[in-house]
Amino acid sequence: MNDYIVELKNIQKKFENVLVLKDVSFGIKDRETISICGASGAGKTTFINIMGLLELPTHGNIFWEDQNVIICDVKKLSRMRAKIFGYIFQRCNLIPELSVIENILFPKRIASKISVPDVEFAKELLRQVHLDGFENRNVWTLSGGESQRVAVVRAMINRPRIVIADEPTGSLDEKSANVTMDMIVSLCQEYGSSLLLITHNQLFAKKMQTSYILNNSELKPSDYAKSEK
Ligand SMILES: Nc1ncnc2c1ncn2[C@@H]1O[C@H](COP(=O)(O)OP(=O)(O)OP(=O)(O)O)[C@@H](O)[C@H]1O
Ligand SMILES: [Mg+2]
Repeated sequence: MNDYIVELKNIQKKFENVLVLKDVSFGIKDRETISICGASGAGKTTFINIMGLLELPTHGNIFWEDQNVIICDVKKLSRMRAKIFGYIFQRCNLIPELSVIENILFPKRIASKISVPDVEFAKELLRQVHLDGFENRNVWTLSGGESQRVAVVRAMINRPRIVIADEPTGSLDEKSANVTMDMIVSLCQEYGSSLLLITHNQLFAKKMQTSYILNNSELKPSDYAKSEK
């Protein structure tokens, strides 16, 4: 037993002969906030895909709540994944055929059954991101900023233990990026989720308790950690 919700041990990832991750070990604890920076192509998305076992490592082990998940069956894995992780992507990846509320409840459907309190919670989250009354809107009628706030709500619907945000503000203007980032941080605090933020934005990276940089296939603590704040 240790304090990690999710732990990666000695992860290596190769695509054909290209080494993207070399012996990376990492863990994230309850309510921790962590940022990972790194150049485009450094392997950040690959790293979080492996963490959520959306992609397999070439070598190494992955533990979710102390269980070695490499050996779990697929059905159990997807239910566990939906309970542990909430995902926010650069492009919001909403399902165009579904309304706002149907998109938000989608991860709930994977984790368990939808009940009346879930719908109420979805509406409460929408209120918290200033989208009250948007529940029946078609998602293709939303602005980029509104779509991303719906994606933030969707990531929170299962009250995940960890929110993984992969450049969540990368396609937004500065003002909208700041508003969205503040919403992500405050919702994670309120609902007790840890936050793993992948970002090119140094200001947002510095807001996290711990910062790492992915470079030359290695994950290292970043220089500008707390002391330079
Ligand atoms: N399925 C795949 N097959 C082959 N190569 C891949 C595959 N997925 C990723 N790569 C390669 O692995 C490297 C890391 O990609 P990744 O998407 O993880 O980078 P990233 O750090 O997230 O970049 P960005 O900041 O642009 O999103 C890249 O060179 C990419 O081309
Ligand atoms: Mg990426």
